[in-house]
Amino acid sequence: MSQSRKILITSALPYANGPIHIGHLVEYIQTDIWSRFQKMRGHACWYVCADDAHGTPIMLRARQEGISPEQLIERIGAEHRADFAAFRIGFDNYHSTHSEENRQISRLIYERLRDAGHIAKREITQAYDPVEQMFLPDRFIKGECPKCGAADQYGDNCEACGASYSPAELKNPVSAVSGATPVEKSSEHYFFKLADFEAMLKDWTRAGHLQKEMANKLDEWFAAGLQEWDISRDAPYFGFEIPDHPGKFFYVWLDAPIGYMASFQNLCARTGLDFDAFWCKDSDAEVYHFIGKDIVYFHCLFWPAMLDGAGFRKPSAVFTHGFLTVDGAKMSKSRGTFIKARTYLDHLNPEYLRYYFAAKLGSGVDDIDLNLEDFAQRVNSDLVGKVVNIASRCAGFLSKRFDNRLSAELAEPELFAQFAAAGEAIAQHYEKREFSRAVREIMALADKANQYIDEKQPWVLAKQEGSDAELQAVCSMGVELFRLLIGYLRPILPGTAEAAEAFLQIEPLSWQDLARPLGEHQISTFKPLMTRVEMAQIEAMLAASKEDLKATQPQINAPAAASNAWLEKDPIAETIDYADFAKLDLRIARIAKAEPVEGADKLLQLTLDLGGETRNVFAGIKSAYAPEDLEGRLTVMVANLAPRKMRFGLSEGMVLAAGPGGRELFILSPDSGAEPGMKVK
Ligand code: 2FM
Ligand code: ZN
Repeated sequence: MSQSRKILITSALPYANGPIHIGHLVEYIQTDIWSRFQKMRGHACWYVCADDAHGTPIMLRARQEGISPEQLIERIGAEHRADFAAFRIGFDNYHSTHSEENRQISRLIYERLRDAGHIAKREITQAYDPVEQMFLPDRFIKGECPKCGAADQYGDNCEACGASYSPAELKNPVSAVSGATPVEKSSEHYFFKLADFEAMLKDWTRAGHLQKEMANKLDEWFAAGLQEWDISRDAPYFGFEIPDHPGKFFYVWLDAPIGYMASFQNLCARTGLDFDAFWCKDSDAEVYHFIGKDIVYFHCLFWPAMLDGAGFRKPSAVFTHGFLTVDGAKMSKSRGTFIKARTYLDHLNPEYLRYYFAAKLGSGVDDIDLNLEDFAQRVNSDLVGKVVNIASRCAGFLSKRFDNRLSAELAEPELFAQFAAAGEAIAQHYEKREFSRAVREIMALADKANQYIDEKQPWVLAKQEGSDAELQAVCSMGVELFRLLIGYLRPILPGTAEAAEAFLQIEPLSWQDLARPLGEHQISTFKPLMTRVEMAQIEAMLAASKEDLKATQPQINAPAAASNAWLEKDPIAETIDYADFAKLDLRIARIAKAEPVEGADKLLQLTLDLGGETRNVFAGIKSAYAPEDLEGRLTVMVANLAPRKMRFGLSEGMVLAAGPGGRELFILSPDSGAEPGMKVK
């Protein structure tokens, strides 16, 4: 085996505004297998990751929940960590991009790029929400598709006809944040001059750091020309303020990959590792990023250019994988195949999914399919039926007849040698990320081990007088082969390997130790290592995923009464259960006070009397009502809506109104006799 290498490995940083789902897990499982393999080979290997905590969606989600972004990222971060731990994703460090380390390294990289002349500055014009007083990213603008007229399409492409366009082309655009019509507004932005690095990038992409498919993709981008990259965003924004430019923030994608370095630096501070030894220009360490094919531009162009321009080393390689489909189709919320990590864990053993993904993963960028029947069949036949079965077929006799002691001599040294010799080829498959090939080789060995037991028929030997030594030798041989197989599968099945190591009473297996048989050795009494997957469990998981969908709130809510938010011919929404309806706390409220809101064309500020308690609510009904016409009226409000921080203050509920919007808006009122505070049933 080659000398010990220094290896730093990363997976893409998940956004801190949503749960981990099985689509994400392809990458974390792939990376974790590779990292565990490198560690088993004896290399000094570190696997780090972090939550990607900045950006507009996170800011708005927190606002919608009535909490601070810090509280949101804290909560989601804890959920992510718990999910990863349950799937045995063995990070050496899990950090956040909203960290002091990241702030400092981002600043350093930016300043070095700026001082070397790689940052440009110019005014640009963008869509602006006049109510929320914020610039709108494309996906926060909705309107009618300029090509096919479909309603409610996002600012960059149409889900109905597939057309791509700029938000300025949308018809009747509205802000998805407030419902207001966006206006054009200009501001000064900072740009990273990517084209300064064109020659370096062209060399780098062809120097073996990328898969061939990706290098070809990059050629297309070179041919199209490298554009300047807008790295700044205006307040309000959740991120790092740009040094010396108050009110301007680094765009989330600037500090996200720097989060890899920041997480590693945090690890260095904890463990005494040398940060510079990994990141300095002439480092002899290896740095690998595992990513999905949707973020190649960031990792293969911007990131190496930023590192180069700031005097750091570039990655040794960027490994890109494809997307996950389930039963041949994109993950779908309504079919229940949009499966959250937590929902999976509620029903199935994480080792199954690790195995199935490994059995499907190669080194290329093809999408992989989780076929649920095949999943059950494969796990049951390979893991339960072949691998675990070897141990269970032998262990019973060893425990009943030989006090769990293995024979000193191998019954079939040649067979053992054959298994041991396969180790190098299997290791090469792992090294090249050809996990499906590694799995195929290992399962071929498992078949051989089962054949051996079939031929030797220990259950027959057990009944024959004078065959004790042979019975013990055959069963011991089975256990020796099982140990090798578990060693080979260990990067994929860390939980099963741990349980098997306890059964075998051995230290954690390293690749090097594998070829040495146990010989005379005491083992423990065998306990089943894995149960079969039942289709009923899978069906229960799909049903629960459909339930998850019902519980999911839309990410961005238009606030009460934004003009176009209530469309005239809204179709009747999907049915809900009574239990969902019962969650709504609707109350009669008296409009104690109604006032215009300075700076907001569409909002009125209402003080609502709930019979003892008052609430402050911003409602977008100014175009339909004069404030004085509302004061004293009774209406209906949602009293248990989470408070929402708006630019003008906290909105503590929502009044109900009907109609398409604008002047045609009708607030609901009860018949006479109703009292403020009464519950609406
Ligand atoms: O696409 C994503 O989910 C991003 N959060 C990935 C960031 S990877 C790295 F650059 F931080
Ligand atoms: Zn369209």
